[in-house]
Amino acid sequence: MADAEYTFVVSQVNMTHMCQEMSVAVVNGQLPGPAIEVTEGDSVMVHIVNLSPYNMTIHWHGVRQLRNCWNDGVPMITQRPIQPNQNFTYRFDVVDQEGTLWWHAHEAFLRGTVHGEWWEKDLAKVGNNMTNGFFDDYSSGSTINGKLGDLFNCSGVPEESYVLDVEPGQTYLLRVINAALFSEYFLKIAGHKFTVVSADANYVNPFTTDTISIAPGETMDALVVADAPPGKYYMVALPSQAPPPDTQTPEWTTRALVKYTSPGNGSASSDDDVPEAPVMPDNHDTISSFYFHGNLTSLRHRRRAQVPKEADEHLFVVLGLGSICRNGGLSCKRGNTDEIILVANMNNVSFHLPPDMATPILESQYYHHQNGMDTLHELSNGPPVTFNFTDRDLIPFGPKEMALEPTSRAKLVRRFRHGATVDVVFQSTGMLQGDSNPMHLHGHDMFVLAQGLGNFDAARDVATYNLVDPPRKNTVLVPNLGWAAVRFVADNPGAWFIHCHYEFHLSMGMSAVFIVEDGPTVDTSLPPPPVGF
Ligand code: C2O
Repeated sequence: MADAEYTFVVSQVNMTHMCQEMSVAVVNGQLPGPAIEVTEGDSVMVHIVNLSPYNMTIHWHGVRQLRNCWNDGVPMITQRPIQPNQNFTYRFDVVDQEGTLWWHAHEAFLRGTVHGEWWEKDLAKVGNNMTNGFFDDYSSGSTINGKLGDLFNCSGVPEESYVLDVEPGQTYLLRVINAALFSEYFLKIAGHKFTVVSADANYVNPFTTDTISIAPGETMDALVVADAPPGKYYMVALPSQAPPPDTQTPEWTTRALVKYTSPGNGSASSDDDVPEAPVMPDNHDTISSFYFHGNLTSLRHRRRAQVPKEADEHLFVVLGLGSICRNGGLSCKRGNTDEIILVANMNNVSFHLPPDMATPILESQYYHHQNGMDTLHELSNGPPVTFNFTDRDLIPFGPKEMALEPTSRAKLVRRFRHGATVDVVFQSTGMLQGDSNPMHLHGHDMFVLAQGLGNFDAARDVATYNLVDPPRKNTVLVPNLGWAAVRFVADNPGAWFIHCHYEFHLSMGMSAVFIVEDGPTVDTSLPPPPVGF
């Protein structure tokens, strides 16, 4: 028995946007997919019926999954994928979390079809291209609740907009999810302010802002009071990252409408009211996003929201791009795009699961299978950061050339003793060309202790750590050309994926698995796989 039980039928349907019909993968025929509503403490059961032609899993992004790694939904890390015409049931509890989390297929191209963007390209092909180091693919437009909005049109007919009806004086809770594959977003409503109350399903000290800045994988809960003169107002989501400026069109922006109604006599605005539009930040204004994230602090209302004062382990992770030889060997003509593949990496190792791998990492770990585990590569502390590009491969990168370090591919993992308090510093590098890195850890929340621009310098920066009320996040935004320091307690036994939620970094290997060992008692260990698993 579960408190909340759902059936998700995954299928392919045809949808038309921008004058073009596309086949997209959807759940229960809907785009965006169905919402799951639970009260804290609820147990949830979701039956997946896969009628799509794809292998897939569903990941419950940000759900803590304490001692429940089997239900985390990452292909070949926690389970074998659900094949076409197969069923699978996920079971999990929602405990000690409040606000908004989300679910998505843990497969790049399938995730793209679930929520945030409209693609005129075949996403299976885009996904395959990315894994092979090609990424000149961008979505065709952003959406708010699946609607492209009136800036998109074909044959002079505007696309449908999402409309939020509000009554004067009422307060609304907006659950904001960045489900896009490729970009941070700025969200703004003309004439209104947001009060941010929760981020990644952890309460924050409320703060008021006119712009929400949100990276892929992040969720924010914000209150909006309908206190403007009755009328119509645009709600605008502006991508603030990819695509590069030279391929970006203003139409990439999506608009929804906030429309005042009056309880007694219907509409408080007339059809020919021209909606007021907000003034948006510059789309490459990375500093606004930096300060927005710096405003998040924890409400500290739970025991789990208290940050440990000391760490047992320290890990320095450099995020970058690199190249490997397409032939799998070490020698190839570097600098020649036919012979090398562009990859993304952590400490210069790019995550890779061999296509013929038969046993998921979690299962190998649980049963102590030697087979499979002997080829794991340990993520060690990163090299000193350098923004110096000499001695690297130059490959064409869009309109420019880009310097890349020769790198390797492996099943990258790091093991942690149960209960260890771990500090990780994520350092972004100049190679990433203006991309920030939303780093997402499964199965744990991370305290975000500090962030900074430029290179992390322990002697200077450790002193700035917030050890009073750091926010708890499952996705920490590592600023463009900067760093972020996090602390987490490795108290959840299992094999947990950690990755950049920026899709082409993920597809190109900017990920690893954190293996958390069993604790000393049954209560602190991973139970056996569920019956029928
Ligand atoms: Cu939403 Cu592995 O991520």
